[in-house]
This record gives sequence, structure tokens and C-alpha cells, in this order.
Amino acid sequence: MKKTVLVSGGAGFIGSHVTVELIEAGYDVVVADNMSNCDKTCFEGVKKITGKDLKFNLVDFCDMEAVNKLFSENRIDAVIHFAAFKAVGESVAKPVMYYKNNLESFLNVLEAASGHGCHNILFSSSATVYGEPDAVPVTEKSPRKPATSPYGNTKQMCEDILQDTVKATKGSDGEIKGILLRYFNPIGAHPSALIGELPRGVPNNLVPFITQTAIGKRECLSIFGNDYPTPDGTCLRDYIDIVDLAKAHVSAVGRMLEGKMKEDCEVFNIGTGRPLSVLELVNAFEKVNNLKLNYKFAPRRAGDVTAIWADPTLANTEMGWKATRTIEETLEAAWKWEKHLAGYENV
Ligand code: UD1
Repeated sequence: MKKTVLVSGGAGFIGSHVTVELIEAGYDVVVADNMSNCDKTCFEGVKKITGKDLKFNLVDFCDMEAVNKLFSENRIDAVIHFAAFKAVGESVAKPVMYYKNNLESFLNVLEAASGHGCHNILFSSSATVYGEPDAVPVTEKSPRKPATSPYGNTKQMCEDILQDTVKATKGSDGEIKGILLRYFNPIGAHPSALIGELPRGVPNNLVPFITQTAIGKRECLSIFGNDYPTPDGTCLRDYIDIVDLAKAHVSAVGRMLEGKMKEDCEVFNIGTGRPLSVLELVNAFEKVNNLKLNYKFAPRRAGDVTAIWADPTLANTEMGWKATRTIEETLEAAWKWEKHLAGYENV
């Protein structure tokens, strides 16, 4: 029988790509989102890509009654939880809003899952939990550093909440098993250009800022800092293609549902293992898309770490997952998506 996966926050950037990959891998997917930070664009895109007449569930995961209803109406085998706020700067300005939303929604999911006999929870964590690492690349055993923002803190707290819940429910009817995926820098878009990132207002993240500058929505990209102790002076990150990232979720869910987990709560880094500087990324974008980007060097951005990239060996060997898309393919897809948003024909 087909297994059913609930994707909370399924209309968002990562959630929509994960929904596509789950459907293509043969799962039934229940998509739920409160639409607080997206519109129907990506959900409609998912239906077009998969050819599936998916039902959309308008659910606020902070509303326990609505979450219980979702679990009562659907026989859910696993949950992938994305429903959360994600802007670092905003979280510093509005900590209560961030803690309330990100913690309450996750607690409700855990309580409802445990109460409805759904044993498998996958949580979307972040490389932000490693802070400024002592050594790179980071493995899952690298220490977590104190969070520098309420956003980062909610990721650490949700990781701990899941670990504690797994321990506490072991052997009970409401047993929960967990997987924490720590994403590095997810970028790009589906090659169809039917789904992608939809930042509200001025983008905080690098790639949406680049594509919006290239299309003329922003005048100039500021590269934050060229005096870092790195080969070209700009920060190093591990940019992971959104479709590769989505496929990691299919591997992780399969591992849970097929009883292949070696521990009751497992942690995996989801990255390429390849560090890229901001300047290298900008140059690659220009080259593959055959355009010139207006950019300038600007002072460092507060809170940025110098260099972080993943050691993805565990995910490669244990989950059988590996990033396969090249940075060129990824940046081509990101540009195609921006052109699609701008209404260009035949992108
Ligand atoms: C950020 C968050 C991280 C979150 C991730 C989600 C911070 C400190 N970290 O990661 O917690 O999980 O987004 O994708 O905000 N850059 C520029 N100009 C720009 C924008 C960015 O030079 O206009 C540089 C940054 O200085 C950084 C790199 O590009 O070196 C990547 O930045 P960004 O895309 O914002 O991701 P992170 O800061 O790595």
C-alpha cells in the first residue's frame, strides 16, 4: 500500500520541491500550509509538474484543533515539518513571534503525530546550528554553537525537542522516531521553472538577490566583505541544489518507513561537500547565463561566519544520497525561474 507523507509548509520553497520528489517516488502527499509566507504559485506548479490533482489544506500548525483534524482525516505515515518562519534578521526584531510560531507549530505536530499513531518525524534543521565552526568541513559530530539569532535558536530547540520526544516515547504506542536534516545553503529552482523561491520584499539570501539584480529589480548586488581570511576574501559556503536537497528527503523518509534507521533519532548534513566563495558563485552565474552582473564590495554583514561547508559522508554512505547537480545547472535553473516570474515567454 502507498505510504502517506504530510508535508507541513508544503507550499514554500523547500516544501514544494520535496512534494514533487515524494510524488515522483510514489508517495501520497498531504500538503498543508498557512500561506503566511507564500502564495498558491508553487502549489499550482507542483500540480503541473506532477500532473496530480493534489488537495491543498489551509492549516495553521499553531492551531492544535486544525492539526488534530488533519491527522484524523488522513492516515499519515510520516511528517516532514517545514512550517516555520525563516528570516534571521526578522527573528532578531521579533523574537516572541519566532519562538511562538516555530516552537508551537512543531510541538503541535509532535503531539498530534504521537496521538494518532504516526511514528516518523523528519525535521528541517540548518547548518546554522554549527555557528562559526572550529574546523571545516563540519560533520554531524561537530559541536553545535550557541545560536546567534532567535531563528537559529528555534532550530536548536526543535532539534532538542525531537531528541527528547524520541527518548521519552520509545516503546510506547505513541513512539516517535526522528531524522534531523541539517541543510547548508539551499539554492536554485526546479528545472521546469514552475516552482522556485519567492522572497517577500528585498531578499536576504544571496542567490535571489543575484537573480533580482540580473533581471533589473535591484540595482546592484552588495558582496558583504572581501577581507575575510579566504582565498579571494569573500565568505565560503556550501550551496546545495534545491532538487538534490529535496531528494535527500525522499531517501530519509524511505529509511524511516522501511525500518532502516540505526538509531531512533538520526542526524544528517545535507550539503555538497564543496565550498564556494561568494565571488566564485557570482562569476559562475555570469558565465553560465552569459550576462554581466552589477555588483560592488560592501562591508561585512553582522552575524556572517567566514567559512562553513559540509562533510556529507554520512548521508552519502548511510542514506545512499549524494548531491549530483553542478553549480552551473543550479544557477541556470535559478535564472530561468526569475525570468519565469518576470513573465518571459519560453524560458
Ligand atoms: C542564511 C542564514 C542561515 C539560513 C540560510 C537559509 C544568516 C547569518 N544565516 O545563511 O541561518 O539557514 O540563510 O538559506 O543569515 N551575501 C552577499 N550579499 C547579499 C546576500 C548574501 O554578499 O546580498 C553573502 C553573505 O555574506 C554570505 C553568502 O552570501 O557570505 C550567503 O548568504 P545567504 O544566502 O544569506 O546565506 P547564509 O548567511 O549563509
